[in-house]
Amino acid sequence: MAFLDKHKSIETHATLLAVLSLVVVVIGGVVEIAPLFYIQNTIEKVEGVRPYTPLELAGRDIYIREGCYVCHSQMIRPMRDEVERYGHYSLAAESMYDHPFQWGSKRTGPDLARVGGRYSDAWHVDHLTNPQAVVPESVMPKYSYLLRAQIDGKHIAQIMSTHAMVGVPYTSEMIEAAVEDFKAQANPDGDTSGLEARYSRVTLSNYDGQPDLTEMDALIAYLQVLGTMVDFSTFQPDPTR
Ligand code: HEC
Repeated sequence: MAFLDKHKSIETHATLLAVLSLVVVVIGGVVEIAPLFYIQNTIEKVEGVRPYTPLELAGRDIYIREGCYVCHSQMIRPMRDEVERYGHYSLAAESMYDHPFQWGSKRTGPDLARVGGRYSDAWHVDHLTNPQAVVPESVMPKYSYLLRAQIDGKHIAQIMSTHAMVGVPYTSEMIEAAVEDFKAQANPDGDTSGLEARYSRVTLSNYDGQPDLTEMDALIAYLQVLGTMVDFSTFQPDPTR
């Protein structure tokens, strides 16, 4: 065929082939990269996604310190088996305030992106204290010492300021009230109105069931918010994207 003959002349001229390949790659690159300079944000804003409360943020730091991410991912892929097991696939917006994100790359244990609200606080205390008491074949380590590690939130305002520097919308009011909010979340019988005004749909609980405030309280507060910020009964993906 005449067309294939012409193509043969391209394929037999190394320089011509290289130049034409470059042209094709440049066109592809421009189509993919140029729009990024014109859109303000690559993350679709989704209603309900808010910064972590001071206690949840402290719990997140404990999650990172303990290396939970080594065995747990937080990223549900849009594939049927994952969605049926874990729930709605993860949205980019759901980790927009995570610095660093906790998507993970290893699933020795299940994905935790939507574990919030799936179990009671008491279940988490039992499970984290001694996973094998709940799931006999579990290889998860015991974290009972978290129940004894008292915390008072003395560094939480600085940690929030640091997150604000990288774009998390913590207001100066939130940072000023950090310690107050930190303690209020685990004390549902106290005055929680300020905390609830600053953070939408916040869970209030004495997470670890003990009178003092411990790392266990913070970690469970964090686990209970995972995947619960967006209301998927009303969520509609933006059709223009
Ligand atoms: C050595 C790997 C490993 C580490 C480290 C680990 N886990 Fe697990 N985790 C597992 C396994 C395996 C399971 C499934 C069996 C079970 O429920 O214990 C699991 C289950 C869980 C579950 C229940 C999830 C569900 O949907 O049923 C939660 C919650 C959890 N882990 C939280 C944590 C937290 C928080 C940490 C860090 C403090 C942590 N894990 C550290 C292996 C691990």
